[in-house]
Amino acid sequence: QNEIYLNGLADRLPPFTTDLAALEQSARERLADGPFWYVAGAAGSGATARANREAFDRVRLVPRMLTGATERSLATTVLGSALPAPVLLAPVGVQSIVHPDGELATARAAAALGVPMVMSTASSYSIEEVAEASGAGPRWYQLYWPNDDEVCASILARARAAGFTALVVTLDTWTLAWRPRDLDAAYLPFIRGVGTAVAFSDPAFRAGLAKPPEEDLGAAVLRWVPMFTGTDRTWDRLPFLRAHWDGPILLKGIQHVDDARRAADAGMDGIVVSNHGGRQVDGAVAALDVLPEIAEAVGDRVEVLFDSGVRTGADVLKALALGARAVLYGRPYAYGLAHGGEEGVAHVLRSLLADLDLTLGLSGHRSPAGPGPDDVRRLPG
Ligand code: FNR
Repeated sequence: QNEIYLNGLADRLPPFTTDLAALEQSARERLADGPFWYVAGAAGSGATARANREAFDRVRLVPRMLTGATERSLATTVLGSALPAPVLLAPVGVQSIVHPDGELATARAAAALGVPMVMSTASSYSIEEVAEASGAGPRWYQLYWPNDDEVCASILARARAAGFTALVVTLDTWTLAWRPRDLDAAYLPFIRGVGTAVAFSDPAFRAGLAKPPEEDLGAAVLRWVPMFTGTDRTWDRLPFLRAHWDGPILLKGIQHVDDARRAADAGMDGIVVSNHGGRQVDGAVAALDVLPEIAEAVGDRVEVLFDSGVRTGADVLKALALGARAVLYGRPYAYGLAHGGEEGVAHVLRSLLADLDLTLGLSGHRSPAGPGPDDVRRLPG
């Protein structure tokens, strides 16, 4: 806040708008249709993406007074690691289609604040490149679980060697959903191989090719597609991941309370309650609407993280109150990236943390552990 007022006195305006709707609108003007709709788009009619927001709108905070919240901290722990705030950057693939620095810019911005960026398997830079850009920042890796065990083991070994600690296994995107806007763009980003850097740089992946991807892109893409789309993993394969990862494992894309129980029974360390920002099953339930029952059922056995529709500090607070330990932030930082690379991501992330800090305090809480079910009202849907 001091920084904002002092900048104002010096006639220094923020580098980008802090209003998310305006930021999205200007990303719309800046980006070509394909990249913009890849970020902004959703599955089918967009019903689930809308439902995610409507669910947040139906939950209202009930602020408390005179609680001493001038003294407060956003610091928390997730899976035993200290974090500056209950916020992580969600895995977002093929980031170089919105800015050439892509995941490297995002990793630098996140690391500067000590916020984990969850690196996507569909990244446009390799595991080692993103790790280097992360510097001393915390590193989480998101796995799209390939059909080939050797390639999977190789990717996991590389991620461990590169200093990634937690593994987020995304279950809801074993094949890409019906996304009309991406179909309009003929999935050009993928066809051009931008989201394949992790696989194409992998020794086990390359060993299965007659010529390296740099010499025969077509053959590499034809090996990649059946390995990473239409995969057939089931619950009984989870021990494979445990055997190849010696840190915490979280399952992302959990929406049914029985799946949450199953993840806990399987000895997973955490789950991410998520519908992929409404990008997979059109008509699926809002992620926020299933958070309370899932947190209630398994919150004492696994750490429950949340994403899908988080936009503001108040949204983070609502998710915490309804049982999340931390949230993942998706599309908004991609718009920041589109605007100004590392600086754009930093602006969006710092804005969210400052908004969260103010809203948490003004609601009468002194830490992320403060808000509980009594601090919100859920209006009838
Ligand atoms: C995603 N998401 C995603 N998830 C994942 O596990 N691996 C990935 O590669 C991607 N890629 C991706 C690209 C883009 C452009 C978007 C918008 C999203 C899903 C992401 O991690 C998260 O679940 C949602 O973005 C959360 O919803 P909000 O915050 O965008 O509403």
